[in-house]
Amino acid sequence: MNLLIKNARVIDSLQDFNGDIYIENGLIKEVGLNLNKEDIETIDVKGSVVMPSFIDTHAHFREPGLTYKEDIETGSRAALRGGYTGVCLMANTQPICSSKEVLEKVREREKELKLVDLHQCVSVTKGFNGKDISHLDNFIDDKRLKAISDDGVGVMDSEIMYSAMLKAKEHGWVIMSHAEDKGFSEFDMRIAENIMTLRDLYLAKETGARLHMCHVSTKEAIEYIRDAKKSFSNITCEVTPHHICLTKDINDYRVNPPIREKEDVNEVIKAIKDGVVDCIGTDHAPHTKEDKEKGSPGMVGLETAFPICYTSLVKSGEITLNKLSEIMSRNGAKILGMNKGIISPGMDGDLVILDLDKKIVINSEDFHSKAKNTPFEGMEFYGEVQMTIKSGRILYKK
Ligand code: DOR
Ligand code: ZN
Ligand code: ZN
Repeated sequence: MNLLIKNARVIDSLQDFNGDIYIENGLIKEVGLNLNKEDIETIDVKGSVVMPSFIDTHAHFREPGLTYKEDIETGSRAALRGGYTGVCLMANTQPICSSKEVLEKVREREKELKLVDLHQCVSVTKGFNGKDISHLDNFIDDKRLKAISDDGVGVMDSEIMYSAMLKAKEHGWVIMSHAEDKGFSEFDMRIAENIMTLRDLYLAKETGARLHMCHVSTKEAIEYIRDAKKSFSNITCEVTPHHICLTKDINDYRVNPPIREKEDVNEVIKAIKDGVVDCIGTDHAPHTKEDKEKGSPGMVGLETAFPICYTSLVKSGEITLNKLSEIMSRNGAKILGMNKGIISPGMDGDLVILDLDKKIVINSEDFHSKAKNTPFEGMEFYGEVQMTIKSGRILYKK
């Protein structure tokens, strides 16, 4: 698809200038001043900011098996409404994504829909049984597989995690770790996260595997990662919008890892500023009202991530918009091996058009997600996604 975007304030992790962007055959072809093309669909976005679309390293779309909560189509539409065109999906579907069959089903659906580029994780242990990693051998010729994860539960057995890391290293997969020692979950969720973070960092140092720490939420875990990154380049991490914006004393919404203390939030933000945090992962976790009442942890995140991060990090003066683009687009794309996240010729024509001054009130009735589980209902933020463009096609428009 071809598209000319005129009069944009173009922002990515490296640039901030006023100009035009031309997308040809789905890829960014030219970026510059006064671009003019004949017989090409043209949009004038004067007054708006254009950024690379966002990339989510962490979401749950619930298909197959739990589609009463979300499915690949509604999850993808929620992503587009939030400005996302690339999403990494966790394996805790039903059945768990441990087989080629489930993996291919997700990929077929992605291909049929042509909405968002998905990366489906395969589980680290077979069916999340915590013991068996033999199924991973079925994926060694899979050219598209990038990441494996037992997110939702985590891998308790250290020797199994070690062996999985060796395998991941051999095949170039990223291991995404949900750090939670179940032995501590009942009474101390801080120790539960911290101890597993330490273990996984240690195992990544030993094995040289590419480790990505999911939803880092404690000041201690941040400190361990900061320290490990000083000597090892095989470690990345993500933080969620809710762990940036909420504190336990104000809104202790049920999510795993839990909402933490003010000091943790401060440390997470500090780590974003000094580059210890690589990216934002939403941990979009759709649940029905009934499931939430029964205690299911998690919240939807794709449609609220940008306004939350923009307001809490940029509008508050903590970081620049360039930095926000780095953590919402560029670095996630790098981790997932996507040709996205920067506005320059040859990259995918995936962009988001934003009105930064627009004040919005979160209303879950507006969500394109099937689920409405959000602690942000009624809260005010700045920054609205006006349009999401994927490969030069306008796939979401307010
Ligand atoms: O809050 C959470 N929800 N944490 C997880 O680890 C899993 C997720 C889910 O799948 O609902
Ligand atoms: Zn998790
Ligand atoms: Zn998750």
